[in-house]
Amino acid sequence: MNNIYEPEFVKKLFNQMSSSYERMNYITSFGFSIRWRKQFLDKLGKSDENLNVIDLLSGLGENWTFLKNNFPNANFHALDFSEEMISQSYKKKQKVFEDNLDLRCEDMLNNNLKSNYYDIISCAYGLKTFNNEQLEILAKEVNRILKPNGKFSFVEVSKPKSQFLLYFYRFYLGKIIPILGKIFLGNPDNYKMLWIYTQNFGDSEKVKEIFERHNLKVNLDSYFGGCSTGISGKKL
Ligand SMILES: C[S@@+](CC[C@H](N)C(=O)[O-])C[C@H]1O[C@@H](n2cnc3c(N)ncnc32)[C@H](O)[C@@H]1O
Repeated sequence: MNNIYEPEFVKKLFNQMSSSYERMNYITSFGFSIRWRKQFLDKLGKSDENLNVIDLLSGLGENWTFLKNNFPNANFHALDFSEEMISQSYKKKQKVFEDNLDLRCEDMLNNNLKSNYYDIISCAYGLKTFNNEQLEILAKEVNRILKPNGKFSFVEVSKPKSQFLLYFYRFYLGKIIPILGKIFLGNPDNYKMLWIYTQNFGDSEKVKEIFERHNLKVNLDSYFGGCSTGISGKKL
């Protein structure tokens, strides 16, 4: 396995980036992170029912306000393996869920989540740090923990197909990001790493193929001409 995909390496990276992560997220999604977040969560629909909702790779809890609005009567769960991201998300946990959130510090690829338990899975900007072998495990786990007909939606910053957007993507990535990184972030090396992951990731097409091999019905989603892509669907 390539070293940069080792869970310990990824965890250390996010532990170190936890204080600058919010700004970084905004920058790496071209300032579109909130809009794309709403759009990818809308794929899950809305419900007043008492569902089990889990936010995977939850980071600082960026999805939580939207999830609480869309599923006001749900039981909420979240998982991330970075102790620092988790501890920095406590304020949000209190504010959005009044502490009523089952927040777990676990590796998604080796977790203790219940089987056939969740109605809804959300996951934002967490796909890029998985290699294909790990995406295979992720898909297997999504299939294991979802109830039949349970829904999922994932989103990730991606390489657009249009030549026009690709030109801006490369310019932004190659020229603007390093400057913003130096100005806004403490550790430019960590920041560069995230871009290596994003470039290696490409888009969510391969993720769709992998998820389809695990008894999941999968749609490929594209946001803003493919500058962000994702998958959404349900367990068959
Ligand atoms: C780019 S951040 C995304 C955070 C948040 N979901 C958001 O929308 O901004 C990726 C998060 O995934 C977590 N992560 C990466 N690999 C993981 C794994 N194998 N198990 C659990 N968490 C993981 C990292 O600790 C980090 O907090």
